[in-house]
Amino acid sequence: MSALFSPLSIGDLQLSNRIFVAPMCQYSGRDGMPQSWHVQHYGSLAVGGAAALTLEATAVSSEGRITHGCLGLYTDEQEAAFTKLLAYLRELGPIRIGIQIAHAGRKASCRPPWNGGQGLSADEGRWEIVAPSALAFGEARAVPRALDSEDLERLASAYVASTRRAVCAGFDYLELHLAHGYLLGSFLSPLSNRRQDEYGGPLENRMRFPLEVVSRVREAWPRGRPFGVRINAHDWVAGGMSFDETLDVCDALKAADVEFICVSAGAAVEGVRIPARPGYLASFARAVRERTGLITRVPGFLYEPRLVEDIVAKGDADCVAVGRAMLYDSKWPLHTAQALGIKLPYPPQYRLSHPDTWQGAASFNA
Ligand SMILES: Cc1cc2nc3c(=O)[nH]c(=O)nc-3n(C[C@H](O)[C@H](O)[C@H](O)COP(=O)(O)O)c2cc1C
Repeated sequence: MSALFSPLSIGDLQLSNRIFVAPMCQYSGRDGMPQSWHVQHYGSLAVGGAAALTLEATAVSSEGRITHGCLGLYTDEQEAAFTKLLAYLRELGPIRIGIQIAHAGRKASCRPPWNGGQGLSADEGRWEIVAPSALAFGEARAVPRALDSEDLERLASAYVASTRRAVCAGFDYLELHLAHGYLLGSFLSPLSNRRQDEYGGPLENRMRFPLEVVSRVREAWPRGRPFGVRINAHDWVAGGMSFDETLDVCDALKAADVEFICVSAGAAVEGVRIPARPGYLASFARAVRERTGLITRVPGFLYEPRLVEDIVAKGDADCVAVGRAMLYDSKWPLHTAQALGIKLPYPPQYRLSHPDTWQGAASFNA
């Protein structure tokens, strides 16, 4: 018996095991649309044995993209491209497919990480960036324009419009990005939100805009198809968002009918050192799970089969989001099952490489 490979229901969605492929930007789109890279990338991840695959952070507007190569869901062409990608992925197998919708806020208009990740220059086609307050993410980034109330209304509507497009494209679940210092996360942190109006100051105010977006997206997203949120456990820096505050946000998310919470970590402000090690987010996920009773998902250096199994078996989290292990080995779930002595359906096309029939498999570590 394995907890990791036991089924899970979220709303009407049945998952065959507890492994989600984590959302991972590829910075390889064109005009916000997936390209051949995405076809091979998501295609290979789709047949690796995970129950669910979350497509990368996908922007609700063109200025909400991190890079020129980020995906977007704000035009008819983009919606058609995602619909086509989903049809292709569904031909490959039964994996459930979700999308993370996002706005990069003050972390928008950058080079891709492999070109340094700094803010774009005018020559490179930079665009105006927006944020709760006019505070740059770091020295190599532009100062954003502080959003006014008309901008906030326009932005909330953009989230709703992308949500409607995600419904039409046929995604099985949707998650909103409230983590990693992007737009909604930057409202939560007192380090990036210094507003003097009803959207800044005490936590109740800082969470007001993210919660408005959550509520409006909730209304636009069908009941039964899971709706979740990704948050940072906390800011890992003095004067930043505390974990107690995060728990209060989770209560509010629950009241807003969010069905799952992914407890993540990532740069809310520049230069933060997070003591990351395998499973370091599990205790935070456990606290969120105990406090809210919501389905809780945890990422964070998860690759060692026994550790990942234990996180689910001990009840720290209901499910896990696996990132880099999937990039390194797109069949990580199948190999992890093998290491735990669990038999998962193996793509029949690859049957001759299965450890039961091919001795060479033994020389690869799971
Ligand atoms: C290439 C890459 C791209 C990522 N893009 C996103 C993203 O689009 N949205 C997000 O919430 N997290 C993103 N992340 C964070 C991952 O979802 C995950 O939480 C993180 O990598 C920790 O999990 P891991 O140790 O299994 O990689 C990204 C990580 C990587 C490595």
